[in-house]
Amino acid sequence: MTSPEAKRASYDTLVAQTQAVLHGERDWLANLAQFAALVYNSVPHLNWAGFYMVNAKNERELVLGPFQGKVACVRIAFERGVCGACASTQEVQLVEDVHAFPGHIACDAASRSELVLPVVVDGRLRAVFDLDSPEPARFDAIDSEGFQRAIAALVAGTDWA
Ligand code: SME
Repeated sequence: MTSPEAKRASYDTLVAQTQAVLHGERDWLANLAQFAALVYNSVPHLNWAGFYMVNAKNERELVLGPFQGKVACVRIAFERGVCGACASTQEVQLVEDVHAFPGHIACDAASRSELVLPVVVDGRLRAVFDLDSPEPARFDAIDSEGFQRAIAALVAGTDWA
C-alpha cells in the first residue's frame, strides 16, 4: 500500500518529468501527445489517458485529441458523460464507480473509475484530460491535486493555437 506521502511525491516526479519532456518545445499538439504518453506509461493502473479538445467550430462539443489506450469515441457533447460534465462545469470530476455515474460513456468496458480535469488557458477552456482505470475507486484527492499540478506545468510550457 502506497503512503499518502509517497503518492504525493510521485506527483512531484510527474511534474518534474512533464517540465523535462516539454523543455524547449511549446507546440500544443506535440506537448499534449508527449504528456499523454508520459502519464500512460508512468502512472500505474490506467487503461486510457488523453485529451478531448473543445471543438473550435462548436464550443459545446469535445473532439478526441492526443491519447494513449484503446480507440475511443470521437465526439462528446458538453451535456454527455463524465468528460462533458467536466467541460460544462470546468470542475474536476472524480468518479469512483463509472457504472453509478448517470450518462457515463463506456469507451472501454474494462473502465471502472475515472478522473477528468479541465485544461483552462488564460481563463478559456481548451480541453479536458481524461484518465480511466480498470480498478474501482482508483483515484482520490491526492491524484486529483497531483494531476492539477501536472496540467498546470503543461499549460505553462505550451503555446495554444
Ligand atoms: N468515459 C468518458 C468517455 C471517454 S472514454 O472514457 C475515453 C465519459 O463518460 O465522458
